[in-house]
Amino acid sequence: MSNIEKKASSPIEQEKELAAIAAVSYIQDQQVIGLGSGSTVYYAIREIGKLIQNGLQLKAIPTSKKTQALAESFNIPIIDSNSVDYIDVTIDGTDEFNEDFVLIKGGGGALFREKIVASMTRKMIIIADSGKQVIQLGLAFKLPIEVIPFASNYVITQIKRLGGTCSIRSKEGNTFTTDQGNWILDADFGHINDPLSLSKSLNEVVGIVCHGLFIGLADIILVGEGDVTHTILP
Ligand code: A5P
Repeated sequence: MSNIEKKASSPIEQEKELAAIAAVSYIQDQQVIGLGSGSTVYYAIREIGKLIQNGLQLKAIPTSKKTQALAESFNIPIIDSNSVDYIDVTIDGTDEFNEDFVLIKGGGGALFREKIVASMTRKMIIIADSGKQVIQLGLAFKLPIEVIPFASNYVITQIKRLGGTCSIRSKEGNTFTTDQGNWILDADFGHINDPLSLSKSLNEVVGIVCHGLFIGLADIILVGEGDVTHTILP
């Protein structure tokens, strides 16, 4: 498969591209790479394609069908997530992050595989444009929650019990379906001031497959801002 290379066409796209290029410099020959999903990761996948072209022996585990197709279009070898015990480096985007390295992910609906891949990863690199860092989590971006469709109404009542409101995500007039055949609830809890407690409460609700709070998973956050990249460590 061949791919038409996309160039960054706006200041925000340039910030994404800068962060992605910086992230790819952490990759070494013979490594297993986790590939996140989303528009920022596009640039990382494009750059990893160039590493492959230059002879690096890499294998990749994608977090979505879309990412897999993109990786294949850049001739990046794909392996099964069950064929390895760990992943050396993963590069993924985020919808929000705060100074405590808590992320909200799942804007593209790939949060479940993203969380599995992040959990398997030794060096988890998050790449972002300058608009992604927030002081208060959950205000600008709702929290994506992947649910088994059979349980959606029950989960909605439990989210209300926890102080949130939510709606079932739709796309082009239809209910949005994840790669696993599940649905996404976009939940509004206002400012999430205790993400760990909310995460634990959501983990206890039967029917929730995964929620978009990523806590203690990121090792490095690379943020493009103007024409520089900031490296943020925990
Ligand atoms: C995919 O489900 C998400 O977790 C993405 O990583 C997140 O939405 C960031 O996407 P962009 O890079 O497109 O902003």
